[in-house]
Amino acid sequence: MDKAILDQSLQAIQAQLHVTAIQHVLILGSGWSDIAAAFPILAEMPYENIPAMGAPGVSGHKGRLLLAQTGNATALIFQGRRHWYEGLGWTPVALPVYVAKCLGAQHVLLTNAAGGINPKLIPGDLMIITDHINGIGHNPLVGQHDTIWGPRFPDQSSVYTPQLRKTLLQSARTLGHSVHEGIYLATSGPIYETPAEIRMFRTLGADAVGMSTVPEALLASAAGLQVGAISCITNHAAGVTDAPLGHDEVLAATTRTMPVMKAILHHVVTQLST
Ligand code: HPA
Repeated sequence: MDKAILDQSLQAIQAQLHVTAIQHVLILGSGWSDIAAAFPILAEMPYENIPAMGAPGVSGHKGRLLLAQTGNATALIFQGRRHWYEGLGWTPVALPVYVAKCLGAQHVLLTNAAGGINPKLIPGDLMIITDHINGIGHNPLVGQHDTIWGPRFPDQSSVYTPQLRKTLLQSARTLGHSVHEGIYLATSGPIYETPAEIRMFRTLGADAVGMSTVPEALLASAAGLQVGAISCITNHAAGVTDAPLGHDEVLAATTRTMPVMKAILHHVVTQLST
């Protein structure tokens, strides 16, 4: 992680969005960008203007940072994330969490698209993440210790804040939507998995698989922020059915599920902003 670029990026965000403090940070994964339409937008900037982020690299990730009004609070909404597999190191992946920490946010809410390993999960379902398995093979906290990320050896026994998990669940129930809870396993990507890998992940206890979220969640948890995360199950993971996998299907599934995703996230963020 490059601290100088993180600091330059923080300054660029503060200057361009005229923001000094925020309550929530939302990091929107593949196909989730449009949930921002649920909130009044106060200001916005393209990722190109944030040194650590640069132009977005993956379709379905808009590459805009929004300052939104959420009831009595404000949120920064990252429309699209950067991933380890893009090969640019941890600085762009960590930036949204760094900004959350430096601007005093209480909550980091993470969203993603994921493949369902547990056969109970079908495309279009939502899954609140209860815990994760880091199958990336790397960790953003490797390197010189910086106390902004908490102690050298952070406790990770409760990464996803129980109260936030409850709020996510209750919001879905209040709105009449059933959601699952489960364990998310992150791989490095960018390949989808083989059926044999998916069988192994199932044996390890994973319910869903994706290529993101774990790095931001572990950083935010280490830094003492409250973390909530939700997956849109966009496909059966490899080998669960015979259907081939592709990014187009992933985006099509999030588009179909968008009204529910938007309603739940709006409800959750409003609950957290009173
Ligand atoms: N595997 C990994 N990442 C994903 C998948 C998947 O099946 N679906 C959406 N993101």
